[in-house]
Order: sequence, then C-alpha cells, then structure tokens
Amino acid sequence: MANLIYKLRLKLFSIIYPFIDDISSYKNQFFRDYITKNTHGVILEIGSGNGANINYYKKYKKLILLDKNIHLLKKTQLLCNHNVILADSSHLPFKETIFDNIVSSLVLCSVIDKQKTIREMNRVLKPAGKYFFWEHSISKNKFIYHMKTYIIFIWKFLTGGCDYNSDNHKLIKSILWGKSKIYIKKSILVKFLGMTYIYGVVLKD
Ligand SMILES: C[S@@+](CC[C@H](N)C(=O)[O-])C[C@H]1O[C@@H](n2cnc3c(N)ncnc32)[C@H](O)[C@@H]1O
Repeated sequence: MANLIYKLRLKLFSIIYPFIDDISSYKNQFFRDYITKNTHGVILEIGSGNGANINYYKKYKKLILLDKNIHLLKKTQLLCNHNVILADSSHLPFKETIFDNIVSSLVLCSVIDKQKTIREMNRVLKPAGKYFFWEHSISKNKFIYHMKTYIIFIWKFLTGGCDYNSDNHKLIKSILWGKSKIYIKKSILVKFLGMTYIYGVVLKD
C-alpha cells in the first residue's frame, strides 16, 4: 500500500510540477543562470525534474541528468539528448571522482537521506570540483514555522515530498569536504511560505 501511494505521489508530482515551473520560470531565471553559468566538463545534475535547467548550460563536455522520478525523466528525455539516469542521490551509480561539477536546484528539501547525498557528492566529485546549488531553506519566522507544521503532510503529498522546514542553509554550511559560499535571496512567495532562497557554490578541497 505504501509503495502504491509513493508511486502515485511521483506520478502526481510529474503532472503538477511542470505547471509550477512554468508559472515561476521568469523569476527563477536568475538562479538557474547562476548555477549553470560557470559549469564545465563532466556535469551531474541531481534531481533534474522536468529539465528546467537544460537550456541554461553553456559549457559542458557531458551532462548527466539524474532523478528518482521516472515520469519526469521521461519528459526530460523527450527534450534533449543528454544521458538521463533513474537513481536516488543517496546512492549515486558512478565511480569515484569523475565529475567536474554537480548541480542541484530545489532538490535537497525532498531528499530523504541528505547526509548520505552530501557524502555521495564528495565521492563522485573530482578534487577542486564544484557543487553549484539553488535551494530553499527555512526562515527564522517562528509563527510561520509552527503554522506550517500543521499542513506539511498535505504539502509533502502534493510536492513530491518537499519539506519546507528543511534547514538547507545549515546543511550546506556543515559540509566538511569543501569551502562553501552561500548567498541568501528573499522572494515574496517563498517568504510568505516561511522560506528563503539560498544559492552558491561548494568548492571541494
Ligand atoms: C522541486 S523538483 C526540482 C526540479 C528541478 N531541479 C528544477 O529546478 O526545476 C525536485 C526534484 O528532485 C527530485 N528528487 C528529490 N529527491 C531526490 C533524490 N533523493 N534523488 C534524486 N532525485 C530526487 C524529485 O524527483 C524532483 O524531480
């Protein structure tokens, strides 16, 4: 039963997300541009969804798009010739130190094993490789935080498991395998939901 509900959630999300992405595409340009403009070489994008970043990449030798949602990957496959891989970010099906860059946008909030994902990124990233991210993180507004805890189950169901209380700022700051630069950008919508956007880069030692 749990498996069936999980599959249903993946399907539902693959229908809903492209609309959300379309509506917000204009205001997301800044972030998508940031995470892709300095990429090069062999790139792994984690949680590529419906492929919203694909057209932003300017320089790459090879781009691999990885997601755990088969329905979204199928949509991506129709859009491009890049390699698409169905996998969970906590078990990356690659050898050690093969990627120059890893990219994620709006993904960590729905990753269940975040620590393992961070360890896997370190394993597959080359020395001096870079992880570019754009994520949302919890805001410090306590009222909103408590209010949100009551509707999180409905929200998670509709959004493919997005945990808007996820402290991704703290998570990225705690990465020990590299130096992180984290920027914060507020947006009215995410502020209303009690979140803030964070974006930046982790440079592997
Ligand atoms: C909100 S969507 C963002 C999609 C895309 N990155 C974008 O910027 O529009 C989050 C995506 O991350 C994927 N995802 C979540 N957890 C994942 C995991 N552990 N491994 C791989 N993909 C994951 C979801 O399936 C979904 O496609």
